[in-house]
Amino acid sequence: MRLPNYDEAKNREKVEVKYLDVDNNINPVYINKKYFLRTYGCQMNVHDSEQIRFYLEKLGMTATDTLEQADVVVLNTCAIRENAHDKVIGYLGRCKHLKKKKPNLIIAVMGCMVGQVDVVEELRAKHDYVDIIVGTNNIYDLPKLLIEKKEKQNIEVYSNSDIVPENIIYERDSKISAWVNIMYGCDKFCTYCIVPFTRGRERSRKIECILKECKNLVDNGYQEITLLGQNVNAYGNDLNLGYDFADLLEQVAQLGIPRLRFVTSHPWNFTERMIDVIAKYKNIMPYIHLPIQSGSTRILKKMNRRYTKEEYQNLFDQMKKKIPNVAITTDIIVGFPGETEEDFLETLEIVNYCKYDGAYTFIYSERKGTASSFMKDDVSLEEKESRLKRLNEAVNKYSKESNLKLINKIVPVLVVGPSMKDKDKVYGYTDTMKLVNVEGGENLIGKIVDVKITDAKSFSLDGIFVN
Ligand code: 5AD
Ligand code: SF4
Repeated sequence: MRLPNYDEAKNREKVEVKYLDVDNNINPVYINKKYFLRTYGCQMNVHDSEQIRFYLEKLGMTATDTLEQADVVVLNTCAIRENAHDKVIGYLGRCKHLKKKKPNLIIAVMGCMVGQVDVVEELRAKHDYVDIIVGTNNIYDLPKLLIEKKEKQNIEVYSNSDIVPENIIYERDSKISAWVNIMYGCDKFCTYCIVPFTRGRERSRKIECILKECKNLVDNGYQEITLLGQNVNAYGNDLNLGYDFADLLEQVAQLGIPRLRFVTSHPWNFTERMIDVIAKYKNIMPYIHLPIQSGSTRILKKMNRRYTKEEYQNLFDQMKKKIPNVAITTDIIVGFPGETEEDFLETLEIVNYCKYDGAYTFIYSERKGTASSFMKDDVSLEEKESRLKRLNEAVNKYSKESNLKLINKIVPVLVVGPSMKDKDKVYGYTDTMKLVNVEGGENLIGKIVDVKITDAKSFSLDGIFVN
């Protein structure tokens, strides 16, 4: 048993990382059993679930979409805000109920939530029907724990890890578009954020392993690769090889993948060379998710974001100037402790300046153990909600405006699947990551095709296939 521990998580001694070749030979002791896997949260979790799915299938199980049919339930959880937490706890209630009827049901809770010390305490005290708890830094332990099947709750959470797992096999959700992890963890410690605690220290994967994985995807006909990391711009800093994210991006682009993307960026680590590389390669998509969090330098300082409003603006301007047709989206938090109306107006001001293609907006949510949880959460809920509403009005206006500009234009779209709503339509994404519902047959799926845009809404476009 190993419990999460925030002192361990905060200990960022730069000891050399160890590369672990994970064992993919798994005894299929769960033949004829069914698993139910539910994923909450960000792209990193979605990708982690592809690894989890590989283990569950290697154990001999097949997937079910119906909770009641499951022999093994795995919840891959998110801890970023209180509402993510509440959703999981609510769902656990359903699992508990099912276990009463099916005592042999195995329940595993994974993901960021179990990296939280207080959550694991709660799971131990009040949710003893949860059998297995595995953290994000040692997902590869899941098969071992499922095979062991201990009587007591089995907990393996490494709050910090010097290990970089390699040789992972993923049961990928898509044959068209693939995620590739380039690093694990985060060292930024933005004061509101739980991620550096739940995912441990920043560790870069080996260059040659990333390139090999990407080359394999190209050889297997993938159309798109998205490089993943909590802060991709910090790639390589811990390797001390004089090799950074710009170098990696360039080398992956040269492998010839039709579309290359990356998330998430941190303004502080975004160099001019990275912008130049994005501008230079046609297959690096002109789309950057560049979280700002706040437009007030005072609040940015309290958030430990390490840039001022002006520095962010300058970076934004450089991107717009150098990368033709670039779309930029962002994340914004309202109601951070001590945020005044003036601070909030500065956020609105920068939104008006940047006219983002899109923005994810959040009300500040206190996460236990983070630096901001020791600050006074002094903005009333009413005020937070009013700021969010005003912010969303501005954000939606600009995203619709940027979409409207595309009407009657012909743009390349990577078609990824059939439309859920209309059987004569498929859907895909522009190079700028805008969702398009396309009139066209399923034969378009997996291809990059020209689409004439016919209508624009705040969050999507309509179009017709033209060649
Ligand atoms: N409260 C509200 N939003 C948060 N985010 C991260 N932590 C919190 C929090 N405690 C937001 C940030 C981040 C995005 C993934 O989630 O905007 O960029
Ligand atoms: Fe959290 Fe900041 Fe790291 Fe992003 S960069 S994961 S917001 S600590």
